[in-house]
Amino acid sequence: MRKIVSLLLSFGMIFALAACGQSAASEKQEEIQSAVQKTEEQTETPQNGAAVEQSKTEEQTEIEKETEPSESVSTEEQEADVSTKTLVVYFSCTGTTKPLAEYAAEIMGADLYEIVPENPYTEADLAYYTNGRADQEQNDPNARPGISGSVENIEDYDTVILGYPIWHGQAPRIISTFLESYDFTGKTIVPFCTSHSSGIGSSDRDLYGLCPDSTEWIQGKRFAAGTGREEIEDWIGQIKRTK
Ligand SMILES: Cc1cc2nc3c(=O)[nH]c(=O)nc-3n(C[C@H](O)[C@H](O)[C@H](O)COP(=O)(O)O)c2cc1C
Repeated sequence: MRKIVSLLLSFGMIFALAACGQSAASEKQEEIQSAVQKTEEQTETPQNGAAVEQSKTEEQTEIEKETEPSESVSTEEQEADVSTKTLVVYFSCTGTTKPLAEYAAEIMGADLYEIVPENPYTEADLAYYTNGRADQEQNDPNARPGISGSVENIEDYDTVILGYPIWHGQAPRIISTFLESYDFTGKTIVPFCTSHSSGIGSSDRDLYGLCPDSTEWIQGKRFAAGTGREEIEDWIGQIKRTK
């Protein structure tokens, strides 16, 4: 009987030990599995990070695309953008310079400003070689005929196209009044003139001293009476290439 009991006890112990060993083994297996999972997660993280980075980059690219000028914006629209910063200014007593200034403004989509004298010039004033008013003004480098009205927002413009008639080889003195009335620091001035037969001569260069040194002057051009729109368009094309 004793033998049978001890035999049964021995079986019981063996069974218990085996069960213990199995649960320890399965615990160990669980530990290993969880360690492997962690390692996998860790090695995956940089990939996920890269994915986030990539999606950020995609987002940024999208934003950049939105802020970049759209390819669908036409050249005309872009040119109109540029020319909103240009002001075409002109003085014209007998209507020769005026239409050329109007062409220039129209072609560039620019604003137009007419220099209107406070005291309008009569026919007698303009009769040259009579020592009339215009002759007298041109003989006096300090003459500054008054201007009626003003350009309200000159700071909005970075380029001024300036048209005038030649009066005794020079720009009329009212052009000096205009140039001394505003600050042209850092602006570009593009002179042009009309005349009966004279060239532009030194009439443009003689104006340089009336503006700050930082004013950029583009070589001026003389046009004959009745110059057409096409010639003005060609000239503006040349200026754009110069700038
Ligand atoms: C006082 C005065 C002086 C002028 N001097 C000249 C001159 O030296 N050379 C010339 O070719 N034309 C001269 N002209 C003619 C004008 O330059 C020409 O008619 C000009 O195109 C007029 O422009 P507007 O009609 O826009 O005022 C003079 C005109 C005036 C009124």
